Amino acid sequence: MCGIVGYIGNDQATPILLNGLEKLEYRGYDSAGVAVYDGKHIQVEKSEGRLKVLADLLDNGKKLPGTIGIGHTRWATHGKPSDINSHPQVSNLGKFAVVHNGIIENYLALKEFLLKNGKTFVSETDTEVVAQLLEYYYQGDVLDAVIKVIGKVEGSYAFGILCEDVPDQIFAVRKKSPLIIGLGKNENFIASDIPAILNKTREIYRLENNEIAVIKNDQVTIYDLDKEVVKKTPCHIDWDISAAEKGGYEHFMFKEIMEQPKAICDTIHPRIQNGRIVLDDVTLTKEEIEQFKKIVIVACGSAYHVGVVAKYVIEKMTRIPVDIDVASEFRYRNPIIDDKVLVIVISQSGETADTLAALQEAKRLGARVLSIVNVVGSAIANESDDVLYTWAGPEISVATTKAYSTQLTVIYLIAIYMADLLGKLSQEEYQMYLKDLNRLPEQIEEILKHKEQLQYLASKYFNAKDIFFIGRNIDYAMSLEGSLKLKEISYIHSEAYAAGELKHGTISLIEDGTLVVALATQDILFEKMMSNVEEVVARGAVVLGLTTEDHKEMEQSATHTFYIPRTNDLMLASLAVIPLQLFAYYVASMKGCDIDKPRNLAKSVTVE
Ligand code: F6R
Repeated sequence: MCGIVGYIGNDQATPILLNGLEKLEYRGYDSAGVAVYDGKHIQVEKSEGRLKVLADLLDNGKKLPGTIGIGHTRWATHGKPSDINSHPQVSNLGKFAVVHNGIIENYLALKEFLLKNGKTFVSETDTEVVAQLLEYYYQGDVLDAVIKVIGKVEGSYAFGILCEDVPDQIFAVRKKSPLIIGLGKNENFIASDIPAILNKTREIYRLENNEIAVIKNDQVTIYDLDKEVVKKTPCHIDWDISAAEKGGYEHFMFKEIMEQPKAICDTIHPRIQNGRIVLDDVTLTKEEIEQFKKIVIVACGSAYHVGVVAKYVIEKMTRIPVDIDVASEFRYRNPIIDDKVLVIVISQSGETADTLAALQEAKRLGARVLSIVNVVGSAIANESDDVLYTWAGPEISVATTKAYSTQLTVIYLIAIYMADLLGKLSQEEYQMYLKDLNRLPEQIEEILKHKEQLQYLASKYFNAKDIFFIGRNIDYAMSLEGSLKLKEISYIHSEAYAAGELKHGTISLIEDGTLVVALATQDILFEKMMSNVEEVVARGAVVLGLTTEDHKEMEQSATHTFYIPRTNDLMLASLAVIPLQLFAYYVASMKGCDIDKPRNLAKSVTVE
């Protein structure tokens, strides 16, 4: 969601900004722009649409000289996507140019104040208010003006700021939205995320809330709100650069689907030592677990769907009741939480605004918060009592795949670990679960070998208008994820239903030729699922059945059947999701959709 890049150094800034913005395209955007100091003035160029439009306008950057600049990809919140509403936004006298990720919640009141004080506005954005406020409060010291402005604005922000009076400095500040500073040799950078600067430097500072960075080409100074210098230690990023590149694949999503066996290995292996689960530094003792009267899982989107699986898995293994909630609901419903509750927060980015706010609410109410996060050092990781990282590596595609899969495996680890401490598992069961967990990567490899079958099915149904996903228990949880994957990247309308619930309303939508993806991996529910399959077949549905290789009976009712290997019922989710991801991918590909950057979506949802 909105991408920020800034450069100060000795090279021409614009090509570097465009390159950095390209690496942030995955965050989702609808327009882009840059502001560069050309030696006399701040020059701004921006345009609605893809970054390529801007790059063409600027002849890939050659047309805009200057060695200091800021760039932005905008995901519209206030005001529709347009050239004018794109960032950078500039103050009336042209002194300040600002790029912004986040939302200024009190922008209307601030705008009114500025209008009364003679400022005029050209855009509908909340960001223009910030540029104008900076100019209004500026009395010769930009740092003072920034401190004044952030004292006035409410909401979330990461700002990159240029001021014409100090053309050898970039100013940056953040609250609730991510921003990092890349440290180079006689050059420095700002960025919303690491991929934007990874080909330039691996040393970064992560800005904390309301730390203000004053960045020159050979110096970065960070201040707090009292103008005291904050001492920070640079953090080294050891990502393999190819992890953030497509590496010969057409889409990041496909590459990330294929990376799942490795991502799962990387997530599980360090945590199984001498045949026992070791949860990093998480000290969940038997006594602590015993005093939890319930577990609450909070997350958004696909991470929430992991929570739906987790409810079945954790309850079955530990017999501790588990509630799940989407973060945007949890935070506003006065949840019943206290220090006897363990809240598990799940997030790939670790920056999702609603999830972060839910975490803060849970902590305020006294809960212990354990988070499952992919991005090291992200806000959610920092604010949790305990963190278990998913070692999925950078996930660039907007539609999550490998992060989802690694989140699931961390859930299995937690469930087995707790069940063991509570004495709910025999040693045979414990070892069986570990063995099954260890086998998941090779079983996923096996499924990936059959991807052409899903490509073929996608070729038959990519023109479908509606697709339904049905399943029971964990298969219902998988239906939710399969349906979301499909609709977000292929734009086909799709719904997920608990199979037994169909006849209470939705079955009226089934007609001749409607595609129903029926998940029937759970042994004890197989017969019940087959009855549901029969019900939809009787109403004309075409059924794509997904089941384990020992349930050949599926073929008697389903039009097509895809088999996955067998493992224990609780872990089948990890196998079932793979064909669902591939099916969605191939359908979207055949429809010619922009798979890695689906319309209207953003990778990191840093606004409410
Ligand atoms: C769907 C998807 C989203 C995210 C959701 C939460 O493919 O990726 O639904 O799962 O926006 O994001 P994180 O995990 O970063 O909190």
